This record gives sequence, structure tokens and C-alpha cells, in this order.
Amino acid sequence: MNERFIVSESELVRQREFAARVRQFPDRPQTFHIVTMGCQMNERDSETIAGMLAGMGMRPEAVREKAGLILYNTCCVRENAENRALGNVIWLKELKKERPELLICVGGCMAQEAGMAERMKAMYPFIDLVFGTHNMHRLPEYLLRVLESRHPVVEVLESDGVIVEGLPQERASAFSAFVNIMYGCNNFCSYCIVPYVRGRERSRERQSVLDECKRLVDQGVQEITLLGQNVNSYRGGGSEFAELLRRVDALGVPRLRFMTSHPKDLSDELIAAYGELEHLMPNLHLPVQAGNNAILQAMNRRYTRERYLELVNKLRSVKPEIGLTTDIIVGFPGETEEQFEDTLSLVRAVRYDSAFTFIYSKRAGTKAAQMPDNTPEPVKSERIQRLIALQSDISREILTAQVGRRETVLVESLSARDEGWIGGKTPRGHMVNFPGKPDLIGQLVRVEILSAGRNTLRGKMITEV
Ligand code: SAH
Ligand code: SF4
Ligand code: F3S
Repeated sequence: MNERFIVSESELVRQREFAARVRQFPDRPQTFHIVTMGCQMNERDSETIAGMLAGMGMRPEAVREKAGLILYNTCCVRENAENRALGNVIWLKELKKERPELLICVGGCMAQEAGMAERMKAMYPFIDLVFGTHNMHRLPEYLLRVLESRHPVVEVLESDGVIVEGLPQERASAFSAFVNIMYGCNNFCSYCIVPYVRGRERSRERQSVLDECKRLVDQGVQEITLLGQNVNSYRGGGSEFAELLRRVDALGVPRLRFMTSHPKDLSDELIAAYGELEHLMPNLHLPVQAGNNAILQAMNRRYTRERYLELVNKLRSVKPEIGLTTDIIVGFPGETEEQFEDTLSLVRAVRYDSAFTFIYSKRAGTKAAQMPDNTPEPVKSERIQRLIALQSDISREILTAQVGRRETVLVESLSARDEGWIGGKTPRGHMVNFPGKPDLIGQLVRVEILSAGRNTLRGKMITEV
């Protein structure tokens, strides 16, 4: 069903040939450093980019300034994300003066924005390569062209998007993996630029997803997160998302998660999966964006506050301990004080474990960019502060309620704060720090929760019989 999106095998062979020629190119960069901005989609894409660069004979370099090739995988969902990307790139101009052989590449969503690639070409001539999200798989071809011509290459395709199977990849983690199940978005929420830069919705074939998950399970991966802008509209080989989830669960991965889920089509079948699937973690990111119906309608979210709360009730009746997280936008064009208070009351009603909160950012080309926006910035800032304060009280209460529990934790990292401590997440997604050895990273251990802080828990490892 998705044939029109799938990149042909012959094109991949062509790209492998370009990669071989880059590998043999005299004076090519020996090392690369990727800076990833934005969401998990970009994180996953960066793993593929790293795989392609490794295939061209380059090694990862942890220190950005030392790398022979620096690549920015950019985000443009809000203006500050874009400014951060541009600020970073401008800074590289100085480095390029010192080391003219340095290659600077910019990819990702910002490159895909209307007019942006041309703007970058004109304003930042020291950038060697600009490429988009729809032609990422052609990186070997573009890099060869840069090396041969020593001239900047700017290649961004306007496209509905593609699916590329079988690209090389360098996974960032040996124990926790993102697996794309679909790309793009058709929802056109009125504030959002993602559908414009990521193209139309397209799902990977179910079997391709299952094969990838099976390989990961065989390699000992402990956690798989299925990724899509709107996983509920996954359509791979005629089957629905809940069915895919069931099949991945049956592969026996210890922990299964997914994101993101749009409330408008969260199905009863998916809700039921929380009661049935052994490995599906009791945690759901369900972006609400706003608590007022007029604002939800202007956002083109296609659900009401009442419908959203009904979904939350259904989820909690199937899985009482489910942890919910969300995204909220404050200061959408025309939002009144009363409408904002509806968001606060919804947050009080749902009691999220945590929330990502954003001040509305105008994105050129979206519907909302045309809407009159009369709320002064200081009022928007004051609103978001009230929202953050409310959510942080709720988060703290929920964390405090975890004290005394015994949980299985997937150890992810060394604790940044305390030497000799490690940290990881509970099934519900709460971060716990506890004393332990670094060799436990990547393993599941049992932990008793001893105390709660603002955003994290503290505990100690236990052995149970
Ligand atoms: N596909 C995901 C969201 C991707 S963007 C979903 O729909 O759930 C992540 C979050 O960024 C969104 O949920 C929204 O809260 C926020 N966001 C998107 N566009 C924005 C804008 N123009 N201004 C402020 N926040 C925005
Ligand atoms: Fe953006 Fe809405 Fe699509 Fe999410 S569902 S990516 S917020 S348009
Ligand atoms: Fe993600 Fe930002 Fe692109 S949120 S899809 S990286 S615009």
C-alpha cells in the first residue's frame, strides 16, 4: 500500500557506491560529530546518519571541535529551536576559518522549511551541505559532490516523503531502541509546522517493523519505543496499531513503549492493550495542548475536553497505575484568561505525572499564523509560570506517593549529581537514582524507593527471593 513511498533497492545500491567512493577519497574527513536537536524522530534519524557516515569510513568524535565533519540535525517546531540551530551554525564560521578542511552539514526539519535552504545558502556560505528530511538517504552522493567540487551543495526536495528500508545505522544505545513505524503527519494542527517539513503520513510494512524488533530482541535490547508523530493512524499491511503492538509484545522485549498518540483516534482496542500486554509499560504520552473547547477547535485538534477526560477515565479503569504525560501550549492566538484557566482545571482533573509546556510560537505557513494574536508576551509568560507551578506540585505529589514501593528499574546512566550513583526509569517512567556500579547500565534491577525530590526519586537496590 505504501509502494509509492518506498525508495528502490537500485537507488540504495547507487548510494552504497557513492559511499565507497567517499571512503576512498583522499583528504576526506576521518571523524564526524552529530548535534541532534528536536524530537525522537530526529534522534532516530541521527542514528541512521551516523550509520551512513560510518559506512563512508568515518569514526564518531565526541568533541565537536575536533571532528572533521560536523552535522546539525535541526528542529524548527518553535522559533527558539530554530534560533538555537542558526546560532550554533554561525559559531562554526570561526572554526571553519581556523580549519578550512572542516565540513559543515545541516539537515533535519529546519532545512526542509519553505525558503530556508536558499536563505542559508545566501547567508551562510561557509556551510558545505544542506539537505532535507526527504533525501537523507542520499547523503553519500551529496558528500561526494562536496568533496569533488569543494563547493557548497544545497539539496532539499519538496516531496510527500519517502520510506527507506535497509539503511545502515549506529544505534545510540545498546539496551534501549527507537523503532520508526511511520513517518510524517496528516493532522495539520493549526499551529504546527511538522506536517510541512515531514510530509504526509506513511507507514512501514508491518513485517519490516517486526523484523527490526526481532533483531533488537535477539541482540538483548531491553526496551523498544515505537515511534511516529501519530502512531494511532499506523496503517501497515492493513493492520491497526494495536495489532502491531500486540505482535511486538509477543516477541518478548522486556519493555515496550510508544509515542506519540493523538487523542482524537486513541482506540478502545489500544486502551484495552494496557490491560492485556505483558511488556507494555504503564505510561502514555497523550498531548492535550489545551483544556478549552474553543481553543481546541481553533487548534484543529478534533476532540473536546470532555472526550479527552473520558479517554483518561477509560485508561485508568483498565490500568489504574498508568502514568500520563502531556504537551500543553499556552498563549495560542486569542486565548483569554478564562480559556487558559480551563487548561489549569484540566491539569488538576487529569493529574499528569509530568507535562511539557510551551508558549505558542508563530510558524510561517501554518493556519494559526494568520490568526490575530493580541495577548502580550508578558501575559503569556505569566500564564506559563502558573501552569508550571501547578504541574510541579502535582508531579511532586505523585512522586511522593511512590515512596516505599519496590520497582524494576532499567539502569540507563551514571547519576550526574552523585558519584557512585546510577539512575534509570521505573515502568511508569519515573527517574530513580541509587548507589550502584556502572556495570549495571543496561540491566533491569529491583529498587526500593526511599524518597522523592522535585523531578526524580531516590532509592536503594534490593534483592528479593
Ligand atoms: N506529533 C506530536 C507532537 C510533535 S511536536 C503530537 O502531536 O503529539 C511536540 C509538541 O510541540 C506538540 O505537542 C506541541 O505541544 C508543541 N508545539 C508544536 N508546535 C508548536 C508551536 N507552534 N508553538 C508552541 N508549541 C508547539
Ligand atoms: Fe503537529 Fe498535530 Fe501532527 Fe502532532 S499531530 S505533529 S502537533 S500536526
Ligand atoms: Fe521533531 Fe522538531 Fe522535526 S519536533 S519532527 S525535529 S520540527
